[in-house]
Amino acid sequence: MIVNNEQDVTKAVLAEIARAPDPRFREVMSAFVRHLHAFAREVKLTEDEFQKAVGYIVECGKRTTESHNEVVLMSGSLGFSTLICLLNNGNRGQTETTANLLGPFWRPESPRMPNGASLVRSPTPGTPMFVDAWVKDQAGKPVAGADVDIWHSSTEGYYENQDPAQADMNLRGKFTTDADGHIGFRSIKPSGYPIPVDGPVGDLLRSQGRANMRPAHLHFLIHKQGYKAHVSQVYTDDDPHLETDSQFGVTRRLIGHYVLHENEPAPAPDVKGPWYSLEYTFEIEPGIAKLPRPPITAKARGERPAIERLKRA
Ligand SMILES: [Fe+2]
Repeated sequence: MIVNNEQDVTKAVLAEIARAPDPRFREVMSAFVRHLHAFAREVKLTEDEFQKAVGYIVECGKRTTESHNEVVLMSGSLGFSTLICLLNNGNRGQTETTANLLGPFWRPESPRMPNGASLVRSPTPGTPMFVDAWVKDQAGKPVAGADVDIWHSSTEGYYENQDPAQADMNLRGKFTTDADGHIGFRSIKPSGYPIPVDGPVGDLLRSQGRANMRPAHLHFLIHKQGYKAHVSQVYTDDDPHLETDSQFGVTRRLIGHYVLHENEPAPAPDVKGPWYSLEYTFEIEPGIAKLPRPPITAKARGERPAIERLKRA
């Protein structure tokens, strides 16, 4: 089609999409093009702004490596990851859910461990923590034999993949629920951490005076045939960044009660000082047990990066 004016170009693109044999492709791509063109019209996007936007997309790709995913970080920073999660879980957005965004730090090959084992694989400072978690279905019945993958950051605010000083797979492990749908493990209490801001995500946050902190949390990924793969995070209730999470992940349901025990014997005899406990129950839904695409595949090499902390203006 010969394009005579700015309206024609949208019609021309939509006419080509209409030729695609896959109906879902037609639905998604025609809506995408309609909204994208409408967006440019609404804000009267200038050529300079368009070129800047292209530059950001190119830079997100360039910065994405085997140990860092800038695209996933950008999606979280725009609230898009949480939106996709809430549209697709909790009976497709109708009910409260224990699902949450995946984030950029899941590695699929974490070591399988027996219930009660520790995630600490190299010396890692922090207050000891003992976690009991249960997996139930929507009727409240325990789900036995589910894989539960867990990962979290160190007290210094680094996932092991970012931090050559930590052992491979430190603070990661995969457990299997018992007949009561239960897993238990030991680690250190997670800390809040700054997300990397040396790329386009940093520019985005600085331009709004946003902080780059994430409130402390544990990540979980629950997987069992017959159930929709359940990605979650459980946030600590004492974190100062619950209201200003740079990834917009915190929902009420996902704030866990991390209990401090100062004068009680710990479940392990080597723990003499204070320790934390957490109990949490996940509710999973029937569906396809498809695991997400891994955002990263390897650990960073070289020096541990210094991550700037942006203060909220
Ligand atoms: Fe995280």
